[in-house]
Amino acid sequence: MSSRTTQRSRTYAEPAPPAVLERLVSLACLAPSVHNTQPWLWRHADGALELSADLRRQLPAEDPRGRNLTLSCGAALHHLQFAARALGWDTTVERLPLGAPETVLARVLVHRTARQAVARGDIDLLRTRCTDRRRFTAWPVPADRLTELCHGAVRWGARAEAVTSDAGRFRLELLANQALTSLEIDGRRLLEQDRWIDRDGPDGIPLELLPDDPDPLQARSRFRPGLLEDTRLVIHGGDRVIALGGGYDDVAGWLRTGEAMSDLWLEATRAGMSVVPMSQPVEVESTRQEITRSVLGGRFELHLLLRVGWQAIGRSGLPRTPRRPLAEVFRR
Ligand SMILES: Cc1cc2nc3c(=O)[nH]c(=O)nc-3n(C[C@H](O)[C@H](O)[C@H](O)COP(=O)(O)O)c2cc1C
Repeated sequence: MSSRTTQRSRTYAEPAPPAVLERLVSLACLAPSVHNTQPWLWRHADGALELSADLRRQLPAEDPRGRNLTLSCGAALHHLQFAARALGWDTTVERLPLGAPETVLARVLVHRTARQAVARGDIDLLRTRCTDRRRFTAWPVPADRLTELCHGAVRWGARAEAVTSDAGRFRLELLANQALTSLEIDGRRLLEQDRWIDRDGPDGIPLELLPDDPDPLQARSRFRPGLLEDTRLVIHGGDRVIALGGGYDDVAGWLRTGEAMSDLWLEATRAGMSVVPMSQPVEVESTRQEITRSVLGGRFELHLLLRVGWQAIGRSGLPRTPRRPLAEVFRR
């Protein structure tokens, strides 16, 4: 990995005690991940937290290069930084540290430089963010909100662009549909995807979270029908698509895009919007390249698509997706 960096060691006045690190890791693990695989491992080493990719949780058929796996780890890395700030701690992050094994994605020092107020609302945000696959309402997402959400990505060294033109959106939906069709005839991918639905354990996607009835007004889902009852009172149509990516289609870029995705998702949640990732078109390499070329004009390499919009007010709450026990993902 050529983008590994060195960093001079520094001493901080007040490193976070183990109990704080443990709390931060458990909040980081609330991050979204592809098929809820939670492909991360955390370790407390030399006063820092080390984040590694858990390659045993990679999806060989759907994600052979580990793009979605690294995006998921990037989301967990952002969640950790966000949680630390909310609890009044600072973080110094070294991404892809030089000399570390390939699977090590980041080292994080958690320290206190000045007393900061605890932002309880932000902790609640980590707990309420979720993937709600019910249909979006017709309420349009205002252009300035989209611009604001996209701007945030630059801070993480990633790129985000809303697909706002009718022609761009039409092209995108067409390509996304083609990619879904190619998935539907790929038995190996289908089998792999199915293995992560309705598992009896602390990972995967519960059937209760997958819409029950394929709906011609709703964007096609990659998953088979589930048990989630959807309301038919509103008309689909107001959602927007945001393309996320970076200069290169590589691990360093995916990690940063994962952080940007998490930041965007939490800010959208704060504003009352819903976000549903749409990674399937990106998993088909020819489709990813075609979207990069003909929808994004080659301005950056596509890593992930997100649907963003408003859902019905007063809709029922959703059960949470499960998470693995801390002891499985955190070595002290
Ligand atoms: C990289 C990535 C790709 C994802 N792709 C999809 C997708 O194509 N379709 C979908 O419905 N959800 C997708 N998700 C959402 C995950 O299924 C979801 O985050 C996971 O089940 C955990 O649930 P939660 O977000 O409610 O915590 C994706 C999430 C990530 C991080």
